Amino acid sequence: MGRAKKVVLAYSGGVDTSVCIPYLKQEWGVEEVITLAADLGQGDELEPIRQKALNSGASVSLVANATERFIADYAFPALKANALYENRYPLSTALARPLIAKLLVEAAEEYGADAVAHGCTGKGNDQVRFDVSIAALNPNLKVLAPAREWGMSREQTIAYGEKCGIPSPVKKSSPYSVDLNLLGRSIEAGPLEDPWVEPLEEVYALTKAIENTPNEPEYIEIGFDRGSPVSIDGEALNPVSLITKLNQLVGNHGIGRIDMVENRLVGIKSREIYEVPALSVLIQAHRELESLTLTGDVTQYKRGIEETYSKIVYNGLWYSPLKAALDAFIEQTQARVSGTIRIKLFKGNATMVGRKSDYSLYDMDLATYGEDDLFDHKAAEGFIYVWGLPTRVWSQRNR
Ligand code: ARG
Repeated sequence: MGRAKKVVLAYSGGVDTSVCIPYLKQEWGVEEVITLAADLGQGDELEPIRQKALNSGASVSLVANATERFIADYAFPALKANALYENRYPLSTALARPLIAKLLVEAAEEYGADAVAHGCTGKGNDQVRFDVSIAALNPNLKVLAPAREWGMSREQTIAYGEKCGIPSPVKKSSPYSVDLNLLGRSIEAGPLEDPWVEPLEEVYALTKAIENTPNEPEYIEIGFDRGSPVSIDGEALNPVSLITKLNQLVGNHGIGRIDMVENRLVGIKSREIYEVPALSVLIQAHRELESLTLTGDVTQYKRGIEETYSKIVYNGLWYSPLKAALDAFIEQTQARVSGTIRIKLFKGNATMVGRKSDYSLYDMDLATYGEDDLFDHKAAEGFIYVWGLPTRVWSQRNR
């Protein structure tokens, strides 16, 4: 008796997920493997990948074009939350996992599979995100993770594949491990494992080196509607086109590189390089618009929500009751986060230089130091007396 009869496997076309196909059948007694490759705008050619799964022994090879869902249903909600894990990483990889999990579960239900599988190892966050998301979406499905158990080295995996007719990688394999989608690239391993070593220029693909960026600044305007970006320089764009265009615009100025040591859920510290051009600028711009359109207390309270949100999304709890509750709060705050942010792009920096909104709470008559000032200066005295009263009493007793 095998571990499962019919399995839907998350498939990337790489050696590991390819080897998973014969491995599941030969070692774990699975009768049928259906593969699913998700297109999240990573720019891979999907037909060869679809074909490779069949050549590796898949009975059905599915390709899901999910880029629109990815941006509209995962990236934009996270943007409304200004989500940055440990204040820096905008979750470009983490956001893809709950969507892939959903695609796997949908396929498993459609094809009557009793399990889903993925190629994650036991050291990362992604295994947690897959396993927990799948359990949340359909707790009756088994989750199989062969690479977490097989204990094969890279060479052994390639050798196992060759025995099963899976050709070993043609190009000399890169020392880096790269995860890629429309939001950006996550790069780790190889020489990056030493946190003292500066990344070579070769790790980057979406952002220019500062030496090669334009010597003149460029100004752009991003329009938002209820917390979501909807236009660049007045041109209305759908979510996918907007991200695609913005990646190009800001990557050209070398904006969106992050080099950090982060804390994984499994307790390991890891050094990771991120390239997230559009997303990093959008978070800055969105925050800027919130500073104009939200009251101070909502802005400040929301910061705590954002931190919790970022942490639970990083930790795999996208489909959780806490996440749903935070979403409701965040959505409520976005009703009037509409307007335009003007941004200067220059030499690796995106600077927010202008902001406007029909819902702006900024009142020039109150803020001005000029003669149009409407603020009642005399009212300040009584206010300060009451505000400072507890401190005054405390001081009198304890001096
Ligand atoms: N550390 C990031 C995360 O947990 C990205 C991991 C992506 N994998 C990679 N091969 N770089 O979300």
